[in-house]
Amino acid sequence: MCGIMGYIGKNDAKQVILNGLAKQEYRGYDSAGLALRCGESIKSVKIVGRVSELKKLVEESDLGETAPVSGIGHTRWATHGGVTVTNAHPHESVDGNIVLLHNGIIENAREIRDKLEAEGIVFISDTDTESACQLLARLYRDCGDVLSAMTKLCASITGAFALVILFRDRPGEIWCARRGSPLVVAHSDGASLCASDPTALLDYTHDLFFMEEGEIARLTEDGCGFFGFDGEPREKQSIFLQWDSVMADKGHYEHFMRKEIDEQPDVLRFTIEAHTDITSVDMEKTLKLPPDLMRGISRVQFVACGTSYYAAAVACNLMESLDDTLNVRADVSSEYRYRNIGRGDDTLAIFISQSGETADTLSAARIAKSKGVHCIAITNVRGSTLDREVDNSLLSLAGPEIGVAATKTFTAQVALLSILVLQLLKLRGALSATDEARLIGGLRSIPAKQQAVLSRENDIKALAEKYSDSKGFFFIGRRESVPLTLEGALKLKEIAYLPSEAYAAGEMKHGPIAMLDEKLTVVAIVPQNDLREKMLSNVAECRARNAPIILLATDGDEGIKSFANDVIFAPATEKELFPLLGVVPLQLFAYHVAKTLGRDIDMPRNLAKSVTVE
Ligand code: AGP
Repeated sequence: MCGIMGYIGKNDAKQVILNGLAKQEYRGYDSAGLALRCGESIKSVKIVGRVSELKKLVEESDLGETAPVSGIGHTRWATHGGVTVTNAHPHESVDGNIVLLHNGIIENAREIRDKLEAEGIVFISDTDTESACQLLARLYRDCGDVLSAMTKLCASITGAFALVILFRDRPGEIWCARRGSPLVVAHSDGASLCASDPTALLDYTHDLFFMEEGEIARLTEDGCGFFGFDGEPREKQSIFLQWDSVMADKGHYEHFMRKEIDEQPDVLRFTIEAHTDITSVDMEKTLKLPPDLMRGISRVQFVACGTSYYAAAVACNLMESLDDTLNVRADVSSEYRYRNIGRGDDTLAIFISQSGETADTLSAARIAKSKGVHCIAITNVRGSTLDREVDNSLLSLAGPEIGVAATKTFTAQVALLSILVLQLLKLRGALSATDEARLIGGLRSIPAKQQAVLSRENDIKALAEKYSDSKGFFFIGRRESVPLTLEGALKLKEIAYLPSEAYAAGEMKHGPIAMLDEKLTVVAIVPQNDLREKMLSNVAECRARNAPIILLATDGDEGIKSFANDVIFAPATEKELFPLLGVVPLQLFAYHVAKTLGRDIDMPRNLAKSVTVE
């Protein structure tokens, strides 16, 4: 959480920093601030609110005659300390020599603060960050050497941090340190930059240095130097990120989320074409597993958070349905650590994270690695921590996703996971040629079917407007549709702030049905397959309790209309692949409900795109 931007070069630092913060605002947006080196002094501007308001305040502020050539900026998602100007970053040490900003949580902040306060240092904010700032100032005063003060600081603080620092008496430098929270550094054309998210740097360069755990960096106009936490210099290779900066642009759309929903057919085409041919999987170049490995595996674990977890659940269902000799499960990352996950050679764990920076998923992957479990990662961000830490890392080819609510990365993950499942089962000798051809053919037909659903947006919008005054929503489905109910409900919670629950349809009468009345809308997912009749019985039970019913059904199933108040139709698919298609109307429905209610769709309250704290 929190977005960081730093710049040192010859251009106007404030423009570069404000642009970079605007691009990373989805990471946190309750307050924002920057510090600019203006001649001899460093001036800070902070606000409670959005980057656009910070920009206005910076423009109105007196920063002196010459444009600042270095500075650091921050957009915050509060953890320690309320949302106030004082708690906004950057923070300044009491001696005025250190200006510091931070992403993460410093766990021993209280202890450090108590010690420094006992020495007479007066703190002004309630943040954990200020303890690092005041401590660094003290360490620097004591030793007079930046690198040594930085290494001592990093050894003294526990928890997660990406720190970016200006020293008042070192005008040509910005210093950074990273443990646990992401930080990317770049040098281009007489300038050095740093940011939390690579998309903020793509206007300047695509050659990026992803800082590793336990690294310190020194940025100057002439380049970037790297050190370990032991102070020893480190050689680092840059990674070329292929993303285009216009991919992270809203274009003619009102919201990133809406644009990203529309991008799904293309994203799926790229993903499917990269890993399959007409009738078979082809992951030989991308998946580097020993050929016999899968034959020795008895347990497969899919592990992720939030929407990525629902993608994991889809993959889990698919794998289990095709191979009854495997023990397959999906876990949320934050709980995985408490389970007896097994040890060693017979277990394969697959970690899924759009950002590749989700703290819980990273911890889960580290635990699995430490137990000798075979690991595969799926992430959307090349160079992200998960991508670098897991040897077998596959990229979902969704391009940058900016809307806080995941859309195109979900379908990219589901497509890639489905192909991966087929490949793994094929390596195991557990995939029939018929199933392979049927599912690959089915996958290849999904982009056009998604396009068909997108072309029906106006019907879905009309329903969203009609039902937006519901007091809440229940999403119900069975088997492959259960993860879809969870995703449909999560989208509504996230961006419309409406109570929305998801249930396996058979569970309704074990309690939740008590809540139904004429103001609680049921969205029932009823594709035309072997479960249609069972689903319709559950729908009838809900209707008998006066709940308005919206059905998600298959094109041509006209008979289903009599069971519902309204129906959204989607083309027929292979039953296992229905989540890839069925999610699109649910995304559009949530989007238009949120829009009708006037919500802040791309930056919903209390959330941040990338959850880098546990
Ligand atoms: C999805 O709409 C959410 N914003 C959230 O649940 C997200 O999927 C979750 O935080 C996991 O993120 P990751 O994929 O980057 O690990």
